[in-house]
Amino acid sequence: MSSSPVIEAIREKLDIVDVVREYVPALKKAGRNHKAPCPFHNEKTPSFTVSPDKQIFYCFGCNEGGDMFTFVMKIEGLTFPEAARKLALKAGVEYGEERSHAMTEADRERLELKKLLTAAAEFYHKQLFSEAGEKARLYLGERRLNKATVERFGLGWAPHGGSALIDEMKAKGWSRDLAQKAGLISEREGGLVVDTFRGRIIFPIRNQAGETVAFGGRVLDPEAQPKYLNSPETILFSKRRTLYGIHAALPQIRKTGKLLLLEGYMDVIGAHQHGVDWAVAPLGTALTSEHAGFIGRYAKNTVVMFDDDRAGIQASVRAAEIFMEAGMYVRLANLGTGQDPDEFLNEYGRDAFEVKLEQASDPLEFRVNLFFKNRTTPPGSQEKAQAIALLLETVSKQPDEILKSEWVKTIASRFGVQEDSVLKQLKKAPEVRENKGRTAAAAPKEIPALERGIIQLLLRDPSFLEKASLLAPEDFSSPLARELFAALLVLDPAARPKAASALAAQFPESASLIMGLAVADIGEGGDAQNAVRAVRMLKRKASERRIKELKGAASMTPQQLEEYSRLMAELKSLAKDL
Ligand code: UTP
Ligand code: MN
Repeated sequence: MSSSPVIEAIREKLDIVDVVREYVPALKKAGRNHKAPCPFHNEKTPSFTVSPDKQIFYCFGCNEGGDMFTFVMKIEGLTFPEAARKLALKAGVEYGEERSHAMTEADRERLELKKLLTAAAEFYHKQLFSEAGEKARLYLGERRLNKATVERFGLGWAPHGGSALIDEMKAKGWSRDLAQKAGLISEREGGLVVDTFRGRIIFPIRNQAGETVAFGGRVLDPEAQPKYLNSPETILFSKRRTLYGIHAALPQIRKTGKLLLLEGYMDVIGAHQHGVDWAVAPLGTALTSEHAGFIGRYAKNTVVMFDDDRAGIQASVRAAEIFMEAGMYVRLANLGTGQDPDEFLNEYGRDAFEVKLEQASDPLEFRVNLFFKNRTTPPGSQEKAQAIALLLETVSKQPDEILKSEWVKTIASRFGVQEDSVLKQLKKAPEVRENKGRTAAAAPKEIPALERGIIQLLLRDPSFLEKASLLAPEDFSSPLARELFAALLVLDPAARPKAASALAAQFPESASLIMGLAVADIGEGGDAQNAVRAVRMLKRKASERRIKELKGAASMTPQQLEEYSRLMAELKSLAKDL
């Protein structure tokens, strides 16, 4: 982790507990730590832990962990310098120029790209209100977007031709290389470079912090293809992680815990214009588990409403299943008029729309309702069996056993069949793979319990190193424990209070494990006695292991023989003391 006098001053002035509490108001004292449901994954029982002693956080559920800087980086999606600037402000520490503080080359490039994208957004926006943008303005008017909405979402117009943006960038002194990295210009065959967006309405795509990271562009000409074009993936923009409208919707989502997932750009913009300002949309991709994880951090109550056509309904069921597999609860809503949300809102208004949202049902009910909708006669037996088989696909993806059995009951009663048969049929359905994400918590088991315990004691209180003087790194059987112990041995005594952070920085791949060990509750008192016992026990095990090795050898050198008798003697004395 980067460090500088400024960073150290921030660390001194701020307490990680206060920093985290701003984002996680539910944080409550529990023993020497503070706990809350994790803001990085969806959970009911709090496994997110903040340690004021160590000034670190760690989640036992998803293994996210780090210090106050990492926390702000992760929760806000910022780079290190951006997070540091934010915390400096809070701490009342002068941060100074961006260039100074441990900025990596990648950080610098991200910053430059953001500046360029902001400049491009301004250019497109100006074009919309120029003569060249007249048709686009008319179109937006037809779509019933008002001026305030156009301003709020920063909509723009990319002129036809192919060099409007290139010329502007050249005039303003931006490098072609950067514009290409930002996806704003693309190379054609023969090395010719053209504007990526030509003759399109521009939708700036912003991250959580409101920074423009990409663009979407919609054609005016109904014949032109594709209807929507998105920026390519860049270091700032990944479709799998981005939700359109998130910056505009976040304040409301934070306030109410409600989130509405719609299908496209125009739906989100229309919804916000009508005051439904908790709406976001994926970007022309199916919902991903990354999206679900992100949404779970902020929203307890998610409703999915995609277009009221076959494709939209299928996509919304798939999205619901992604949420389910991430252990989240969602409901599905359906307008039932065949309209897109923005069309419905323009015709019937916000209240009618919100009634539809209130009628949202869980994914299974939604599918059952679809089946019975527009049906005048009850289904025959074969039809029932086929329909139930399809519904059981959704049921089998539900990791919550309670909900699963409720859904079995629902199917039985709605179709008028035996609950028992539904259950039997469900058992036959192919097993769905275990909920991923969750199993990652098993990692600390790589180190045997005893060795883990010793490392843990040392991380919590490195002064135990004195008591552990008996031990050498080779006494640990786990390679990782051995390395950690060796690093602790040579740790500068001044750095001891921050042993966990120091080690985490040294072993980034094991950072979560280290943080986890450091904040884990191992009970008050008795530590000293436990430590001595644990150290002796490990020493004995190590000796036994070595003795076995020596005995296993065909013959022993004189030195080995000497080692053997020394170990045997040691073992005896260790056994006596235990
Ligand atoms: P739709 O075709 O439903 O568009 O695609 P829409 O949102 O109703 O747009 P309007 O109302 O015709 O203007 C839904 C979403 O799928 C993505 C876009 O994100 C769009 O908002 N999409 C669609 C693409 O990425 N590319 C396309 O060619 C079409
Ligand atoms: Mn539409």
